[in-house]
Formats: sequence, structure tokens, C-alpha cells
Amino acid sequence: MALLHHLRKPDGGAGLKRYRIATIPGDGIGPEVVDASLPVLEAAAARFGFALDFERLPYSADHYLATGETLPDRAFEHLRHDVDAIYLGALGDPRVPGNEHARDILLGLRFRLDLYINFRPVRLLQPDLTPLKAAGRPGGEVDIDFVIFRENTEGMYLGRGRVDGEEYVAEEVHTVHGVTRIIRAALEWAKAHGKTRVTMADKSNAVPAHRLWQRLFGEVSAEYPGIETEHRYIDALAMDMVRKPERLQVVVTNNLYGDILSDLGAALVGGLGLAPSANLHPGRAGLFEPVHGSAPRHAGKDRANPMAAILTGALMCEALGELDAAAALERAVRAALAAGVRTPDLGGTAGTRAAAAWMAERVARS
Ligand code: NAD
Ligand code: IPM
Ligand code: MN
Repeated sequence: MALLHHLRKPDGGAGLKRYRIATIPGDGIGPEVVDASLPVLEAAAARFGFALDFERLPYSADHYLATGETLPDRAFEHLRHDVDAIYLGALGDPRVPGNEHARDILLGLRFRLDLYINFRPVRLLQPDLTPLKAAGRPGGEVDIDFVIFRENTEGMYLGRGRVDGEEYVAEEVHTVHGVTRIIRAALEWAKAHGKTRVTMADKSNAVPAHRLWQRLFGEVSAEYPGIETEHRYIDALAMDMVRKPERLQVVVTNNLYGDILSDLGAALVGGLGLAPSANLHPGRAGLFEPVHGSAPRHAGKDRANPMAAILTGALMCEALGELDAAAALERAVRAALAAGVRTPDLGGTAGTRAAAAWMAERVARS
């Protein structure tokens, strides 16, 4: 899957390489998928000769309801200065209908750590997982393998606006700095990974502010003559994603559209139980989380799919420079899928813990 850069190297010197990983299991199924996945990541570390020192942080709806704290400044400073990566389950709880804690913790970390790239791969790991019909497609199979570069620090997500009587106003913010750097990140990644086309999606036919995306996409892509660039309005791209996902390689878009497209992308390749993501700023520690949320209906039932969290762990290993571990984690997920070790969302009967334990064993023997 190959990420952007190796973010950090651990302290030099002899002995086992050690990485400091803060975990924020969060709410709902978050703690279950994190608890099930950590032994799988540990198995990969043991197998490939490094150590993951996990530190569990309590920030969640429970913690907020008990203490009034979302993400205290001292925790933020600790995360900013002292860790190599953050591994997050999910945040969101019906007891916090305003979602204040998730805004402060999840969006707060993305914004305050300036993790401007939300890297969301969409890959079909087993042919049977897609709901798309293979009939009529060349070779009879659907080959889906693209990456969404979602801008992660601006757009609709700044929460700017006002409520004026009956009028609720939400403002989108797109800056030259913010749009340029996500477009450049997508093009750089495409170039580094032998991709030949980057697709930019906006709604500039209805939203004048999106003309900035058109302008900057033209300007920045001129520096990458080997890469074909194309523009789609977001509505048309949503349709194309379903009709012709095979032709997509790299998609770059704003924060809100990237959020929506990443759930659609997940649905094309087996659902949210399989979709990983990484929040990145090259050269800094990243925040790694599945695309899915806390799925409160499924919480506490040992039925959540841990594969999205494990694939997210693979992205984390890759960003840490542990490429063999990343590849082994991905192979273990593929092997579990092929062997029918599947949770109910994929039509199977495996529990969260059993599926993860199977993959831990597989990694250890890899
Ligand atoms: P969701 O992703 O939590 O769940 C939607 C549906 O997808 C679930 O009902 C379930 O059927 C399926 N699903 C998701 N993950 C699964 C898994 N690992 N295994 C099996 N099935 C899975 O989205 P939602 O219901 O819209 O949101 C629930 C809460 O999560 C909300 O509070 C929302 O704000 C929050 N949320 C958080 C994050 C995050 O922390 N990164 C992401 C999305 C949503
Ligand atoms: C995601 C989630 C978040 C987002 C929510 C929980 C604020 O949907 O990571 O995809 O919209 O970014
Ligand atoms: Mn989302």
C-alpha cells in the first residue's frame, strides 16, 4: 500500500528499536477493535525485530461524562512531543449528542497537529467482497485499487459560521496554502508510486470558492508532466466510483467530500470493517484510525470487524518504516479473508477476538 514517507526513525544505538505508540481506544466498538488488534501488531513487531510500547489514553465519551475533560492540554502536549504515532479506535457516543469530545479529540488532533493529509486507500482484497457486478468487465473481475487524499485541516470542518435566528450558516474555508499542499501531496505520492493519473473533485460549478481548487490543481500539476490530471465534479465522481472504479488511481478532494467518498469507497470493497486511514504530515508523528466510527449498535457484542484496525496498524508500521511488518499484517488479513475467518459484516461467524487471534498467529508464523 506504500505510504508517503517514513516519518521517524527510532532513537539510534544498539538493541531493539522501540516505538512509542499512544492508543486512544475511544467509544463503542473502538476499544474492542483496538484491544483485539494490539496483539496482532505486537506479533508483527516481535517477528520483525522491533518493539511497540503502547500507552493507553482514556479520552472518550466515558471520560468526558465522568470528568468534563475532552483532550486536556497536557495530553495534547504529550502527544505532540513524546510519541511516534497515535493509534485511535473510534469516537462518538449517543450520550454526547453534540459530539463535543470527538470534535476536540479527533478533529482537534488533526487540526492542532496539522495532519493535513487524510490518506484513505480503497483496495479490493478479495474479489467476492465487492457488491459490484463483475459481469461485462474485462477479465470478469473488478480490480479496485485507488487512494483518496482527503484535505484534513480546512473546508467545512473548521466549524465556522453562525446561527442567526432561523438561519444556520456554515462557512467553508479553502486557502492557497491548504489546497496547494494536499494537491501536491497527491501528485508526489502518485509520482513516487508509478501512478499515471490524479483525479481532483470539487463542486466549482455551484460553489465559487471551489474555483481555487481548479486554479491550483492546474498550476501545481503543471510541475508533474508525467501525470495525467483530470477534474470531476463531485457528484459525477461519486457515480464514476460505482460505475468505473477500476480507472481511478489517486483522488484528491476537500475535507467533506473526502469524508463522504471514503465511506462510499469502503462500500465498494467490503465495507467499513475493512477500511483503514492515516492522518499525516510528512516528517511528523501521524494519527492512525479506521475509517469507521464507533458503531454503537454493535458495541460489546464481539462482532465488530477488527480488520480495518489491523490494516490501519499496517499503515502505521509503514509510516514508521517497518515495511516488512506492514506487509505481513496485510497478508494476514488477506489470508483470514481467504480462509473464511470473517466477522458477521462479511457474512461470517467469527468474533472480533477470535478473528484477530487467528491473524496474530498467522503473523507470528509469517
Ligand atoms: P459507523 O462507521 O460507526 O457505523 C456505520 C455502520 O457500519 C455500523 O452500523 C455497522 O453496520 C458498520 N460498521 C462500521 N464499522 C464496523 C466494523 N468495524 N465492523 C462491522 N461493522 C462495522 O458510522 P455511524 O453509525 O454513522 O457513526 C456512529 C458514531 O461514530 C457517531 O458518533 C459518529 O460521529 C462516529 N464516527 C467516528 C469516527 C471516528 O472516530 N473516526 C468515524 C465515523 C463516525
Ligand atoms: C471520519 C469521521 C469523522 C469525520 C467524524 C467522526 C467527525 O466521519 O473520520 O471519517 O467526519 O472526519
Ligand atoms: Mn467519515
